[in-house]
Amino acid sequence: MSLLVTGGAGFIGGNFVLDWLAQPLAPAVVNLDKLTYAGNLETLSAVQDDTRHLFVHGDIGDQALVSRLLVEHRPRAVVNFAAESHVDRSILGPQAFIETNVMGTFRLLEAVRHYWSALQGHERQDFRFLHVSTDEVYGSLAVDEPAFTEQHRYEPNSPYSASKAASDHLVRAYHHTYGLPVLTTNCSNNYGPYPLWRAKPCRFTATVCKSAIGCTSRTTAAPSGGCLRRAALARSTTWAVGTKRPISRSCTPSVTCSMR
Ligand SMILES: NC(=O)c1ccc[n+]([C@@H]2O[C@H](COP(=O)([O-])OP(=O)(O)OC[C@H]3O[C@@H](n4cnc5c(N)ncnc54)[C@H](O)[C@@H]3O)[C@@H](O)[C@H]2O)c1
Repeated sequence: MSLLVTGGAGFIGGNFVLDWLAQPLAPAVVNLDKLTYAGNLETLSAVQDDTRHLFVHGDIGDQALVSRLLVEHRPRAVVNFAAESHVDRSILGPQAFIETNVMGTFRLLEAVRHYWSALQGHERQDFRFLHVSTDEVYGSLAVDEPAFTEQHRYEPNSPYSASKAASDHLVRAYHHTYGLPVLTTNCSNNYGPYPLWRAKPCRFTATVCKSAIGCTSRTTAAPSGGCLRRAALARSTTWAVGTKRPISRSCTPSVTCSMR
């Protein structure tokens, strides 16, 4: 069975699609992306002739389109990377953040809920909705404070983080209200190939979202080597899709390292 990936022409989603399809026997990916300023199909040039990759230009807020894709492709998971995703842009123009991150996620959830409700047997049991969120929902840390955990309370400080917090709450509510099997990851800044405007060398905080899949150990990233870091993120997302843990929220050891 396939996956429906949203925002798969963006920075993290694009890396995820490439890593997923690098597995020889990986199921197909339907990649739904609106191609905002942040989407870049060149990231996906390595898989443009791969029959396991179907790119669909569209909006997660287009419930009819999402419903059609779900019925046609019967994915066993939806991985939601699609978002307006930059704090500074959300301060300059918050509306798009509310439309995509809140209303878009809501309409995506509605389409997925109807699809999942009609599934039977192992298709229904194995289905997962993986929502990729951010540690920005927890607010700000002082320099000497330890990293956030999922025990921290939500304190979003920007329109971006508030819109992501709202989407997290909707995802959680769809689990508790309707039983939809969801996972949410709240990672910090990611690094790796194909960043949009994150290309200049600087310090990044890296987080690998492993507790989403029930890992107990803290994850470390190598001090250099973007590929390893990218793989760590994408693999952890891949595992999250495969986890039998039906639930709800998760996060993230965070690791600070220097890009060389
Ligand atoms: N980049 C990071 O360091 C980081 C850190 C923590 C969390 N996140 C979260 O991870 C996810 C992916 O982040 P990213 O850095 O890859 O983002 P990005 O901005 O690089 O990519 C977002 C992608 O979503 C697409 N998109 C936007 N609105 C859409 C819509 N309405 N319908 C369909 N597609 C749409 C864009 O075209 C783009 O391809 C986001 O949810 C973000 O909040 C990112």
